[in-house]
Amino acid sequence: MSIQIPRGTQDILPGNVEKWQYIEAVARDICRRYNYKEIRTPIFEHTDLFLRSVGETTDIVQKEMYSFEDRGGRNITLRPEGTAAVVRSFVENKMFGNPTQPTKLYYNGPMFRYERPQAGRYRQFVQFGVEALGSDDPAVDVEVISLALELYRTLGLKKIKLVINSLGDYESRRAHRDALTKHFSSSISEFCMDCQSRLEKNPMRILDCKKDRDHKLMKNSPSILDYLNDYSKTYFDSVQQYLKDVDIEFEVDPSLVRGLDYYNHTAFEIMSDAEGFGAITTLCGGGRYNGLVEEIGGPNTPGIGFALSIERLIAALHAEGIELPVESMIDCYVATLGDLANQKSVSIVSQLRKAGLSVEKDYQGKKIKAQFKTADRLQAKYVVVLGDEELNRDVVNVKEMSSGEQNEVAIDSLVSHITDKLSRGEM
Ligand code: HAM
Repeated sequence: MSIQIPRGTQDILPGNVEKWQYIEAVARDICRRYNYKEIRTPIFEHTDLFLRSVGETTDIVQKEMYSFEDRGGRNITLRPEGTAAVVRSFVENKMFGNPTQPTKLYYNGPMFRYERPQAGRYRQFVQFGVEALGSDDPAVDVEVISLALELYRTLGLKKIKLVINSLGDYESRRAHRDALTKHFSSSISEFCMDCQSRLEKNPMRILDCKKDRDHKLMKNSPSILDYLNDYSKTYFDSVQQYLKDVDIEFEVDPSLVRGLDYYNHTAFEIMSDAEGFGAITTLCGGGRYNGLVEEIGGPNTPGIGFALSIERLIAALHAEGIELPVESMIDCYVATLGDLANQKSVSIVSQLRKAGLSVEKDYQGKKIKAQFKTADRLQAKYVVVLGDEELNRDVVNVKEMSSGEQNEVAIDSLVSHITDKLSRGEM
């Protein structure tokens, strides 16, 4: 049998890749307007980085990481997410010392999780994400949320909703944790083995369990919002006020806990409520992670960010029936009739490309009729026909494909003839 693509991965082929490029260009432009700069970190990191940041009791670390020992005996993991690596780089490159703070970064690249593949869930997926490090102003939380929503809205999504929660500061989470331990401990034997070990180590993770989510104790479990101390409450109120100030609608959901351990204060997700979107409705997730920089060995620095996958974004566009304005047309196809014309076409194609046009020619010795067919398939706006007889007179024939109009044009003015027409929007 021939070798096939690994489960949970996909090829993004021409015809489809243009959508990705379009989305990535829109994301980059939004980051430019919000003044987030791109960072590129390695695809693999030391496994310890994820144990320390994402958390040892999370599903990601316990079940989903692609980890291996390299030939030097080091424990290496393909990154399951981007935040840990950005924070590592922030610390390692001492970005906390930069004169302008907060440090605002974005990334776009593949992440790897050994999950059960299904619609919207891949083993390799591309996350676009941002991280703002160095400010605990709640206005930054709202900036980060606005940026994510702006991407979805710019691309045309309407059926999306923002859900927020506060996980509070250390003191609040401690109080909530005690309440959770008390709540679950009498019946913990009815829960899965993972949850039984979570009770001691990190009872909040029980709330995130996929196996036990229908257990009766889940419904009336203590809400973090009842355990927020004054600082956390005021912080959460400010985030909500700023969201209202910039006309962003939201829902507060006290059961939103997120699947990674580094969060505190603001946690948020953006969901699709388009019909037929499928079971996994979360498009984007993020939150505040004050304390993570310190955990990774840097100075005490607050941070907040989000990540979203392009795969789920494309699925949401599909569910809402949105076609992106991507075009796969080429400007010009150079067709040739005769040997001399074929030779001459090489330099003509080169001149047209140097002028910035997208140009194709025949490399397979096709007859002129078949060349026109190819030009049609490629949706060429113009076909330049080179014939031996015309070349002797230093002219070529230019056909505008949309109108069928044909003109004889001097070779010397071919480039300006086509570029002028294109800039006037004529096709
Ligand atoms: P996360 O919730 O694990 O958070 O993932 C963020 C987003 O990545 C999800 O909302 C979803 O769009 C996408 N995603 C996750 N797993 C898959 C998958 N298997 N297939 C397709 N898409 C997937 C994080 O990763 C955090 N680092 C986000 C963050 C940044 N928090 C603060 N800064």
